[in-house]
Amino acid sequence: MTIPVQDSILIIDFGSQVTQLIARRVREAGVYSEVAPFQSAQAAFERMQPKGVILSGGPASVCDEGTPRIPQGVLDSGLPILGICYGQQALTLQLGGAVEKGNSGEFGQAYIEISNDCPLFDGLWAPGERHQVWMSHGDKVTALAAGFRSVAASPGAPYAVIADDARRIYAMQFHPEVVHTPDGGKLIANFVRKVCGLTGDWTMAEFRAAKVADIRAQVGSGKVICGLSGGVDSSVAAVLIHEAIGDQLTCVFVDHGLLRAGEAEQVVTLFRDHYNIPLVHVDAEEQFLSGLAGVTDPEAKRKFIGKTFIEVFDAEAKKIGGAEFLAQGTLYPDVIESVSFTGGPSVTIKSHHNVGGLPERMNMKLVEPLRELFKDEVRALGRELGLTDAFVGRHPFPGPGLAIRIPGEVTKERCDILRKADAIYLEEIRTAGLYDTIWQAFAVLLPVRTVGVMGDGRTYDFVLALRAVTSTDGMTAEAFKFPGDFLPRVATRIVNEVKGINRVTYDYTSKPPGTIEWE
Ligand code: XMP
Repeated sequence: MTIPVQDSILIIDFGSQVTQLIARRVREAGVYSEVAPFQSAQAAFERMQPKGVILSGGPASVCDEGTPRIPQGVLDSGLPILGICYGQQALTLQLGGAVEKGNSGEFGQAYIEISNDCPLFDGLWAPGERHQVWMSHGDKVTALAAGFRSVAASPGAPYAVIADDARRIYAMQFHPEVVHTPDGGKLIANFVRKVCGLTGDWTMAEFRAAKVADIRAQVGSGKVICGLSGGVDSSVAAVLIHEAIGDQLTCVFVDHGLLRAGEAEQVVTLFRDHYNIPLVHVDAEEQFLSGLAGVTDPEAKRKFIGKTFIEVFDAEAKKIGGAEFLAQGTLYPDVIESVSFTGGPSVTIKSHHNVGGLPERMNMKLVEPLRELFKDEVRALGRELGLTDAFVGRHPFPGPGLAIRIPGEVTKERCDILRKADAIYLEEIRTAGLYDTIWQAFAVLLPVRTVGVMGDGRTYDFVLALRAVTSTDGMTAEAFKFPGDFLPRVATRIVNEVKGINRVTYDYTSKPPGTIEWE
C-alpha cells in the first residue's frame, strides 16, 4: 500500500528490462510514478487513481495466446495513455487494429521521419525532420485502430509513432526511456506534462513519504535488520527505514578492518548518536585479517571477504533473534547490472561483494526501499533525510575495502600505511575543492619496494599509486587530470609523513582497458 499521491502516473510493466527507466524519466519530469506488474495493474490503477498510464515494452508477442493484456478498466477510463513497443502493440490489438509477428524486426539505433504534428513532439520535433531512436522489436503494427493516425515512421515500422488525439492515446514502436533515444526523456516529459496536464512539481519529499508508508505496510510489527557497510546506499536505506518503523530496525555494522581512516567511527557516531538507531558494531578485523593471511589472488580475497561477511552478519542476526526482514540498500543499477539491455550474457570481470547470498542463507524477506533509484537520486533522498552533503556525496567505496587496494598480501601494517596515505590524498583533494568533480579517488599500496634517499640515509620502502577518475556510472572512466603542482605536492606530503612509503606514482589508465580498482 502506498499513500495516494495527487498527481501520479501508473506504469504498467509487461516485463521489459528497462521499465524502471520509464519511472526515472517520469520522475525527471517532476511527476510521481509507480510501476505495477500487468497482473496487478487494475488494482494499482484503482488505488493510485493516476492522471495517466504508460504501458511498457515486454518480451512476449501480442500475437500469441495468453500473453499480457491491458486491463479493460484502464482502456475504458478515458485517461491519457502512452504505449511503448509491446504497449503499442497491445493497445492496437485491443482497440481493434492489427499486429503482425515479425520475422526480422529492428534492433538498435534507427531513424524515424516525422510526418505530422503531435503533442508529444511539442517544442521538439517538426514534420519533415529525422530523429534517432532506439528500436528493439520483432512484431509490428500493420493496421491502425480506428481513431489513430501515424505521426512518424521508420523503414521497418510504418507506425513508429501513432496518435489518437480525441482519446489522448499515443504510442510508439521505439523505446523513449533509454539514453539511446536522445530526445526520449523529453517525449515522456511532453506526455506527462502536455498530454496529462501535470505540473511537474513532485519532489523527493513525496517519495520519502510514500516509501515510509510502503515500509510500514510491508513490515507491520515485524523486526528488520540492516547490514551497514559504511557506504551511502545502506546508510540512506537504514535512515529511511528507521523513520518508518523506529526501533523495530536494528543495524549491524560488520567492521572488517578494511575501511578508510576514521570511517568506522563516523558510521557509529552517525547512527548511534545522531539518529539514535540501534546499532551493533561488530569488530571483526582480527577474523578478516587472519583469514586473508597469505591470500594474494584478487578473486580469492573477494570471495573470502564476501563469505566471511555473510557468516559474521548471520551470527549477529541470530544473536539479535526474531527478525523476519533483511534490509538492503540495493539500487536500480544493481538490479539491472547482470542483465544487459540486449539480453546477452555478461562475463564476470570481478565478483562484486554486496550482501548477495544473505537472504537465501538466512531465509528472510527483503526490504529494499531504494530499488527504483539511481545513485544520484539516492543522494537526493539522503539529503532529504537530513544526511549532510559531505556524507551523501562521498565517493563509492568497494565492499571488500582496502583489501583490493593492496595487491599481494593484506596485512594490518599495510592497511595502516595505506590508510594514512589515502587520508592525506583525500584531504588535499578536498582542500583543493576538487572532491565533487571526481567520481572516485583513492590510493593503492603496491607490494613493491624501491630505493630512496632521505636526509643522509638510504630508504627501501613501498611504492604508492594514486588514482582518480571521472565517470558517470562506474562502467567507463577517465583518469582525472589534476591541475598544476597538485600531484607533486601530495607526493611530497605522503613520502614525508607516511613511514613505509618512499615513492608515489599516478595511474593514468582509463576504463576500459583498466578497471577503476586495481583488483
Ligand atoms: P571496477 O574496479 O570494476 O569498479 O572498475 C567499478 C566501481 O565498482 C566499485 N567496486 C565495488 N563495489 N563491491 C562494491 O560494492 C565490490 O566488490 C566492488 N568492486 C568494485 C568500484 O569502487 C567502482 O566504483
